[in-house]
Amino acid sequence: FNISGDEPSHPPPGTSKRAPHSIIIGVRKGGTRALLEMLDIHPEVAAAATEVHFFDWDENYAKGFEWYRELMPYSYPQQITVEKTPGYFTSALAPERICAMNSSIKLLLILRDPAERVISDYTQVYFNRLENHKPVQAIENLLVRNGALNIRYKAIQRSLYDVHMRNWLRYFPLEQIHIVDGDALIRDPLPELQRVEHFLNLPPRIVSSNFYFNQTKGFYCIRSDGRERCLHESKGRPHPAVNSTVLQQLRSYLQEHNRTFFRLVRRTFDWQ
Ligand code: A3P
Repeated sequence: FNISGDEPSHPPPGTSKRAPHSIIIGVRKGGTRALLEMLDIHPEVAAAATEVHFFDWDENYAKGFEWYRELMPYSYPQQITVEKTPGYFTSALAPERICAMNSSIKLLLILRDPAERVISDYTQVYFNRLENHKPVQAIENLLVRNGALNIRYKAIQRSLYDVHMRNWLRYFPLEQIHIVDGDALIRDPLPELQRVEHFLNLPPRIVSSNFYFNQTKGFYCIRSDGRERCLHESKGRPHPAVNSTVLQQLRSYLQEHNRTFFRLVRRTFDWQ
């Protein structure tokens, strides 16, 4: 009966599966897993075990709302259900579909420096390809084509936060989308989690002793219910060093998009 994905054979008395009250919509590689696991420390949160991909994958959406609800965890009436699917943020159809389900749902969006996110995205794909014995490329070969920045590269597209945010703001007021600073969450998780508790109207229950810094991993890990655990080894992997000219090209391309994004959300972030 927890985030590990074990489904109880008999649901605990008084529990049921309920549609999410809040969804972590992304962004991919923003720190979505860390955010969900840290939020799950809260006794009044029931987190979905897996990424559901209901609103972004047509074949799942076609299965209907009951299929979706079945994938939610059992929860007590006082708990709120949270699911996370990082692909929602960059999906053209997810905002409209989520709005059709529940137009007053609270959305959580965790973002980090978009250039750093590109490199993290590349690193994830790189390791997936290695595992599947597929050929891999140096990041520079994906970022640059014929001397110019390859803006069609999917990892860059996903970092155009303004483009995607516009789509969400057509369906949801800004107040309904809480942005978690993913870079701040890495440095010091508690203040970010406290802001999320507040946004979700949860009583403050997450405390500093729920986190400890693991020197070997180089990241904060979680202490809860007498157990200590770090995120999976695929979270917090070292990134490749990127050629500085290429990185500069990427950063200067993203700069204008970032500025537009700051205007849209009436807030700034210290992205380089
Ligand atoms: P890297 O592996 O590139 O460092 P997501 O869960 O959305 O895929 O995001 C993965 C990112 O979460 C990691 O990217 C890492 O930087 C970040 N992260 C934030 N807090 C973390 C934590 N406590 N432990 C591990 N990774 C964390």
